[in-house]
Amino acid sequence: MRPDALRKYRPFPPVDLPDRCWPGRVLESAPEWCSVDLRDGNQALPQPMSVEEKLAFFDVLAGIGFKQIEVGFPSAADSEFQFLRRLIDEGRIPDDVTIQVLVQTRDHLIRRTFEAIAGARRAIVHIYNSTSPLQRRVTFADATRESIRNIAVGGARLVKELVPTVPETEVVLQYSPESFSDTELDFALECCHAVMDVWQPTPEKKIILNLPATVEWSTPNVHADQIEWMCRNLKNRGSAIISLHTHNDRGTGVAATELGLLAGADRVEGTLFGNGERTGNLDIVTVALNLNSHGIPTGLDFSDLPTLRATYESVTRMLVPERHPYAGELVFTAFSGSHQDAIKKGLDRNAREARDAPDLPWGVPYLTIDPRDIGRSYEAIIRINSQSGKGGVAYILDREHGLDLPKTMQPAVGKRIYDLADNRGRELDADEIREVFYREFANLDAPLALVEYELVHDTGHRGEVRCSAVIRHDGAERSIEGVGNGPINAFVHALESAGLKDFKITDYRSHAVRGGSDASAAAYVQTQRDGDGKMLWGAGVDPSIEMAGLKALVTAWNLLRAD
Ligand code: KIV
Ligand code: ZN
Repeated sequence: MRPDALRKYRPFPPVDLPDRCWPGRVLESAPEWCSVDLRDGNQALPQPMSVEEKLAFFDVLAGIGFKQIEVGFPSAADSEFQFLRRLIDEGRIPDDVTIQVLVQTRDHLIRRTFEAIAGARRAIVHIYNSTSPLQRRVTFADATRESIRNIAVGGARLVKELVPTVPETEVVLQYSPESFSDTELDFALECCHAVMDVWQPTPEKKIILNLPATVEWSTPNVHADQIEWMCRNLKNRGSAIISLHTHNDRGTGVAATELGLLAGADRVEGTLFGNGERTGNLDIVTVALNLNSHGIPTGLDFSDLPTLRATYESVTRMLVPERHPYAGELVFTAFSGSHQDAIKKGLDRNAREARDAPDLPWGVPYLTIDPRDIGRSYEAIIRINSQSGKGGVAYILDREHGLDLPKTMQPAVGKRIYDLADNRGRELDADEIREVFYREFANLDAPLALVEYELVHDTGHRGEVRCSAVIRHDGAERSIEGVGNGPINAFVHALESAGLKDFKITDYRSHAVRGGSDASAAAYVQTQRDGDGKMLWGAGVDPSIEMAGLKALVTAWNLLRAD
């Protein structure tokens, strides 16, 4: 902002709570959850959900494990009313799920809400009125505290009066001093007490007091202080469920909720992926998976997050951003070389250790959870661009193409590939990486090519091998022959007999190629040039392990010539 613009703004006043307890606490269990996707989330959509979409989404929410679902504002619109009626009349509400309905503290709306819930087994009737000084001054034209409190009391009385009109429904009462986050705490408490005086909750039949950060004005520690202050000063704490409902204007809705739970709250309202007005509601997925990542069960099942995200995106027509915690496309992807190396080491070690000790804690650098636990796969974890390193390239060649490159070969291959990504100014996909590897490091056949070969084992001496080969060198074919203690060694001697040996072999590896369409072998030969001592790896891939080894040697020979 421009400095002169700052004149418009003021610091948010702190809460006077020097003996606050929440900073020393640790979260050990999950709160009650209430999804407000079908109400707060839906009312923020550019194109709200159709009744059919809401019905499908309700099933999804119940399937995740939500036991409380706010299904709308049935008195506000006919479509909301009809949706609720269909849920009830068509018996779509599972026995262990309680629906919640929101209504302003206005008489005709409250009456209509009771018509809407008739026949439901259990329903939370959620009334609210706005309480902050700003709302009192601007929206309610300088209304007094007393008149605002009376609105809450009037609504509470009418609700109490109407409960007997739905005898087959167990009604749970919820009150929100809307705009709690910038309401004077003593006044928020006064309104909550006034509603409690009417409803007379007990420890057996508790009231839900929802304390919304309707707008997130302050840092999360202030929110936590506000919640702790309310919990401490409420006169009948044992008869109330303290509920959080944070929005995300400052981008700290999740933090505010987590600190609010430390401060003593029992319940959390929010939406999937944080859909909601302006910057959104609290993202319940993130809070629940944060708890899971500390080993805490939540009762919510996000084990197939990609499918859930796809469903969410299709019914809401919103997109989950690529960097969104847990669900975003890129959040289990590392581009940086050093991160890729560390992740590859961590995954390998974790896989090794998990075989012997399945209860060992997860420990992979840069990954707070195992992506597989939420239905994400390893394939996307490491992606290759100019920031990537040898470990990432090796990881892709290994996981995607079954090629387990020797460690000392990885730097040269990695460098070639990320230089290319830098040159193209973009990410390379797994197939492009394979293509570069095959073009530049495997089965090279110029200037030297192996045209055909024959191996005769046990030439009379135990373990001895004779190699008769046809090679093409600088365009001319010739036959060569050599004897050695193995196929590669015999071929080296054949090259020597043709005056083409100016190197020695310093390392050799081979393995079956995993997951390939045809059963192939991969071999890697490291050679060292006579004279300057330059070392290079070449690779060969072929259905025959012997041929793979010979091709690897020819490749290394060609690379030494090119270098
Ligand atoms: O954000 C809010 O204050 C609300 C209330 C109606 C609970 O959505
Ligand atoms: Zn809200």
